[in-house]
Amino acid sequence: MSSKPKIVVVGSSNTDMIIKGDRIPAPGETVVGGAFSTAPGGKGANQAVAAARAGGDVVFVARVGDDMLGRQAIAGYEQDGIDVSFVQRDPALATGVALIIVDQTGNNSIAVASGANAALTPDDVERAADAIKSAKMVVFQLETPIETIMRAARLAKDAGVPVLLDPAPAPSEPLPKELLECVTVVKPNEGEASRLTGIDVTDEASAFQAAEKLLELGVSTAIITLGAAGSVVATKDGVRKRAPAIRVDAVDATAAGDCYSGALAVALGEGKSLDDAIAFASKAASLSVRRLGAQPSLPTREEIERA
Ligand code: RIB
Repeated sequence: MSSKPKIVVVGSSNTDMIIKGDRIPAPGETVVGGAFSTAPGGKGANQAVAAARAGGDVVFVARVGDDMLGRQAIAGYEQDGIDVSFVQRDPALATGVALIIVDQTGNNSIAVASGANAALTPDDVERAADAIKSAKMVVFQLETPIETIMRAARLAKDAGVPVLLDPAPAPSEPLPKELLECVTVVKPNEGEASRLTGIDVTDEASAFQAAEKLLELGVSTAIITLGAAGSVVATKDGVRKRAPAIRVDAVDATAAGDCYSGALAVALGEGKSLDDAIAFASKAASLSVRRLGAQPSLPTREEIERA
């Protein structure tokens, strides 16, 4: 049996079409210039790959199209040692595609055509029930249907398996309480925390208020990331603290949050303390912003330990 912690990621798989240019166009504007590339992406897949490279034994539950992009995506996950038994190939829908523009400072703007991701069903999750029940941690984001995420969260909670929710992209409405009650760790950024709690998160004080609200809503640990200002952490056991950010010159921030979540899941699955797990995840995320593209930028365990 592998000594690596088993991490199940339920979520999206996309192919990213990227322009690295000077700046992000305003609505109605055309900006000429920059370089085009493609890379494997999707928040779920990025978290799965991040976890695998960080040292997890990863099972990915997802849906891609039965097309060239889907086949390429699956081949990439296999190269990272991910169990793809529960990655379905949908005969009727295309693999998800994200159009990403990255500016000179590494900031991005992303539009996603979900394709097969939107057809990931609760039954797809049921098929992976044994994997979920035997995991050290189950990880979700919000690029697949909410009823599917809720089924997976419920399966994990009933089996006593910790759940990590990365609530990205920011939900258009508050998440169901039944979902948040199944969540062990939630890791929103400022915008996502504002959407989840109705509290406008603009600084440390408002981040702590939002974290308290997330605990009231049923999660056990809230980590609200604040970009260059680090993160605030609050737990049901009374921990209230700040974690510093690691300063880097960013080439591309795409998938930095996904990288953080994947690495955090592995560290917690290994039994590291919350402080050590956050430090490990912050290091991984700080490495990911130095390279262009979502999955090409995700660091290996060796790179994280060397940083
Ligand atoms: O979080 C980054 C990801 O968001 C990209 O890889 C893109 O596919 C979108 O899902």
